Amino acid sequence: MSKRSLISSFPFQLEPELVAQVHCSLLRWYSTEQRDLPWRATNDPYAILVSEIMLQQTQVDRVMPKYEQFLTAFPTLADLAQASTADVISVWVPLGYNRRAVNLQSIARQVLAEYDGRIPDTIDGLLQLKGVGRYTAGAIACFAYRKQVATVDTNIRRVLHRIFLGLEFPEQKLNDANMLTFAEQILPNGEAYSWNQALMDLGATTCTSSNPQCTYCPLQESCRAFTEMSQYSLFPSGTVLRQLRKVAEKKADYQVQPFKSTNRYFRGRIIDHLRTVPSGQRVSLADLGAQIKPAFTHADMPWIQKLVEGLTKDGLLDCANEGVCLP
Ligand code: ADE
Ligand code: SF4
Repeated sequence: MSKRSLISSFPFQLEPELVAQVHCSLLRWYSTEQRDLPWRATNDPYAILVSEIMLQQTQVDRVMPKYEQFLTAFPTLADLAQASTADVISVWVPLGYNRRAVNLQSIARQVLAEYDGRIPDTIDGLLQLKGVGRYTAGAIACFAYRKQVATVDTNIRRVLHRIFLGLEFPEQKLNDANMLTFAEQILPNGEAYSWNQALMDLGATTCTSSNPQCTYCPLQESCRAFTEMSQYSLFPSGTVLRQLRKVAEKKADYQVQPFKSTNRYFRGRIIDHLRTVPSGQRVSLADLGAQIKPAFTHADMPWIQKLVEGLTKDGLLDCANEGVCLP
């Protein structure tokens, strides 16, 4: 099957030209902006295994010093296998989730006993190791052995979703298994290492969960979520995302609509409500909010303010300190 037909087998359109453009922009960005992380400066599968197990539940900043310390205490797989479990745990402890330390040591022992001391280089082989799931297996195959494989963690999932599928709210458009298939299909030829690391960096530094810095993002022009967010009356992106997350979490009793129409819907509701108010009487923004949106809270004030500003600018509202009315 060609790449084009694979891509089009998903329930959304994806132009190969767009994918190529994203590859190019992100890889160029990564070549100059990549974070200087110690596990990127090594090809030692053992060191990379240690880093990926640590990174499973711990942020990069906290992993960095521990990573160096751990490798100083247990420089090789054999050192780790032969150490006492208590020693391994005591080095690990500040990272938390100490079961990972125990798993890591049993991996070392298993690899020594069953694989002649060589950490497997295939996804299937890596999946046999304790505490190694598909994400970690993919990361090790790719980062330690330069295998051309995809891997999807929370950051990568969010970034890919936003770029190619749009915002992850009100709901994700692909489940985990389909997202992995998708990631495999758009993997750039021969560039899996940089691509996967770049997606992680973008997710950690720019396309963060609640406050994406679209203004500084190399993918702004090709990003679907950015296009969606720009259609909102609310900007910047962080505001849009917080609003959307809140709506998704509250499962408010109105249907979440695509951006343009959500905006249009509430503008319509504002006008409809003001029609029912005796002429000359003004309605405060808080009262108006409660009228047009069932789950309205004080946190929605900036949102309604924006809507009202837009309507006023369009000449549809008369806005004063005491409240709003029809002009
Ligand atoms: N999180 C998981 N793996 C990582 C890596 N190799 N670099 C940065 N963050 C990560
Ligand atoms: Fe994320 Fe914004 Fe960049 Fe899109 S443009 S990838 S939403 S930071």
